[in-house]
Amino acid sequence: MSGSVSLAWVGDGTGVTLMISPVTNSARLVFDVLLMFAATNSSASENYGKSFQDVTNLINNTFIRSEFGIAIGPENSGKVILTGEVSGGHGSRIFVSDDFGKSFSHQDLPFIPLMQITYNPDNSNVLMVLSNSNELWLSEDFGSNWKKLHDMVCLVKWGRKNTIFLTASLNGSCNDRGMLELRRITDYGKTTKTVASKVYSFGLGGRFLFASVMTGKGTMRMIHVSVDQGETWNMAQLPPVGHEQFYSILAANDEMVFMHVDEPGDTGFGTIYVSDDRGTVYSKSLERHLYTTTGGDTDFTNVTSLRGVFITSVLAEDNSVQSVVSFDQGGEWVPLRKPADSKCDATAKDPDKCSLHIHAAYSIAMRLNVPMLPLTEPNAVGLILAHGSVGDAISVMKPDVYVSDDGGYTWIKALEGPHHYAILDSGGLLVAVEHSVNQPINKIKFSTDEGQCWGPGARSMNVSIWGYRDSLLSQYWISITIDFRDLLTRDCDDNDYVQWLAHSDDISDPNDGCMLGYKEKFLRLRKDSVCWNGRDYEVNTQPTPCPCTLDDFLCDFGYYRQENSSECVEQPDLKGKVLEFCLHGEEEKLQTSGYRKIPGDKCEGGEMPERKEIDLRKRCVSDLVGPELLVNSPSSKSVPIVITVIIIMLLSIAAGVVFVKKYVCGGRFLVHRYSVLQQHVEDNAVDGVDDPLETNHTHNGKIEFHDDSDEVQ
Ligand SMILES: *[C@@H]1O[C@H](CO)[C@@H](O)[C@H](O)[C@H]1NC(C)=O
Ligand SMILES: *[C@@H]1O[C@H](CO)[C@@H](O)[C@H](O)[C@H]1NC(C)=O
Ligand SMILES: *[C@@H]1O[C@H](CO)[C@@H](O)[C@H](O)[C@H]1NC(C)=O
Ligand SMILES: *[C@@H]1O[C@H](CO)[C@@H](O)[C@H](O)[C@H]1NC(C)=O
Ligand SMILES: *[C@@H]1O[C@H](CO)[C@@H](O)[C@H](O)[C@H]1NC(C)=O
Repeated sequence: MSGSVSLAWVGDGTGVTLMISPVTNSARLVFDVLLMFAATNSSASENYGKSFQDVTNLINNTFIRSEFGIAIGPENSGKVILTGEVSGGHGSRIFVSDDFGKSFSHQDLPFIPLMQITYNPDNSNVLMVLSNSNELWLSEDFGSNWKKLHDMVCLVKWGRKNTIFLTASLNGSCNDRGMLELRRITDYGKTTKTVASKVYSFGLGGRFLFASVMTGKGTMRMIHVSVDQGETWNMAQLPPVGHEQFYSILAANDEMVFMHVDEPGDTGFGTIYVSDDRGTVYSKSLERHLYTTTGGDTDFTNVTSLRGVFITSVLAEDNSVQSVVSFDQGGEWVPLRKPADSKCDATAKDPDKCSLHIHAAYSIAMRLNVPMLPLTEPNAVGLILAHGSVGDAISVMKPDVYVSDDGGYTWIKALEGPHHYAILDSGGLLVAVEHSVNQPINKIKFSTDEGQCWGPGARSMNVSIWGYRDSLLSQYWISITIDFRDLLTRDCDDNDYVQWLAHSDDISDPNDGCMLGYKEKFLRLRKDSVCWNGRDYEVNTQPTPCPCTLDDFLCDFGYYRQENSSECVEQPDLKGKVLEFCLHGEEEKLQTSGYRKIPGDKCEGGEMPERKEIDLRKRCVSDLVGPELLVNSPSSKSVPIVITVIIIMLLSIAAGVVFVKKYVCGGRFLVHRYSVLQQHVEDNAVDGVDDPLETNHTHNGKIEFHDDSDEVQ
């Protein structure tokens, strides 16, 4: 409640923003809820964007809980739920609106919520929430009537097709991790089925259901995966983790998942693995991936404006934080190219050779004066706006804003200093406002050429910028509305668009631009066109398949790629060993030639690696979730992986020692360096640390994984 503001978009096309800000009103602490109408997407005939309305009186000055006070409905349902406290925290009341916050009705709850009320992604009238005594409550009529579905629930999530997954504690304590039961509820409570036991936690991503299950060996647990809602399980080929480590789903869709596996110890990093299309076989994608031990912060970002592109940070051996990008869905990670118009800063050893580093969730958690996460939009093809610095690592100095128009291959420095920014009109218009804590803002900057040139906003234009004036004497909201429709008066026509081949720098080369087996040509707005794409503008793409090369394949379990080579070679430490690979606990034939197609890869013809079959002569344990299998010790296949992990660990510890000397002597003090100590100081609310698969950390509200839901925080 330290003067923070909650801002949420109620609906996309409507441009309605709901803001909650704490306002100290004499002796009474109330939350003023203001409804504001921003003009971002307005079409000429609609007139919202010019006024805002105080709805405090609509909710009767009720104290709205700041951690999970606003729940915005999926898509453009227009639904809003505000959760408030009554009678000094002993009761709870919700205010619900289904008309974008224009009117609210209220309802007292028969329980006190422990979390934000969640909407069924398939039916926004159905709500679910956990109470502070761990009961699961459900409403099928948008909050009017509630029924209790289950007791002693530790974690609950919506699954697909109106299912609910939860972990329940048998003897009453959610601290008893590893002893939980994973249950699936269908038909809103008519049937409940236990789908796994000895569960530590679970997660959902794409079509996959993951559960971490105790191995029966000390405190070690392993990931199990199901693609049929928990009916059958397979053990994932991932290293087991101990109780102080965690697994986290970084991103997932129906084809694959990016999984982070924490290293043992307080290292602040782990390893990213990418899955196959069944979610069972994993390839190592990135080592030393930054994921803080205590706060749960990671810079992992899906660049939604270009297929296959992801940006994240690694913790270098000198404990500096460095950005890396993958253009092929985690196949290879490289540093970001230095912007042509920028000089290397003081963090660089060589003043001419360095790279761009992107500030994301980690920098924000470290309070490095970064007001916004990197911004991309599926409709604004290739466009990325992000804060960054140019050098050998993330610098602690004031960041600047960098823009890429080709999905992260090349960058330019667009704006000096930190800014708030927005992508409007499918990338046709970028708007930015300087971020300064002490100085008032009097300039709005915009660009119609994807960030190359920025002009200050003139008075004749009319975007809604909202701000909060906070001084000792007065606190109030201000809103300025600028209608950029007045600037972009002309509707774009065919001549305003050019063809652009993604992942390519030479459109005439027939083999250029292939990514995951196909290339895509887009129609993009010319940089020199000043015109309006309009709300109905749809990204136009023409995919064509490419012939397969070895780059369209991942190395199978037990195989790896040597540096600079496309070929997969057998891991020496696994040579001659039976590669145990269990599916459904049956005597399975393991098919591998060392290659398997990257999930989602659509290449046709071309190179098809030979496949050979290895007969597995023994029965193996494919999952530990069934009670009869729980006595078995984990199968030997995990051993080689653990050994590699330990070796890597030892190597990095050795490297760390070398670093300390270099750092002290070199004195490159501008580099931000990760320190566990600092982490412990920065994050004091860390109950959810060891939440494997628990990527919905709503309490820090940053990198979040939401399957199907469309929340904006
Ligand atoms: C608002 O609060 C007053 C005084 O506590 C109460 O009498 C009234 O019924 C409340 N109205 C609503 C809509 O909650
Ligand atoms: C819960 O029950 C299990 C066995 O049923 C027992 O081993 C464990 O100690 C119990 N935990 C608590 C907190 O009572
Ligand atoms: C990344 O984002 C794109 C666009 O929203 C989406 O289609 C894709 O499935 C995402 N990838 C993963 C692995 O989540
Ligand atoms: C904003 O634009 C509208 C027309 O869209 C115009 O009537 C109004 O005067 C403008 N306001 C300002 C402050 O320029
Ligand atoms: C791989 O390629 C890079 C750049 O071309 C080169 O610097 C490096 O030495 C190569 N590594 C091996 C093992 O050949």
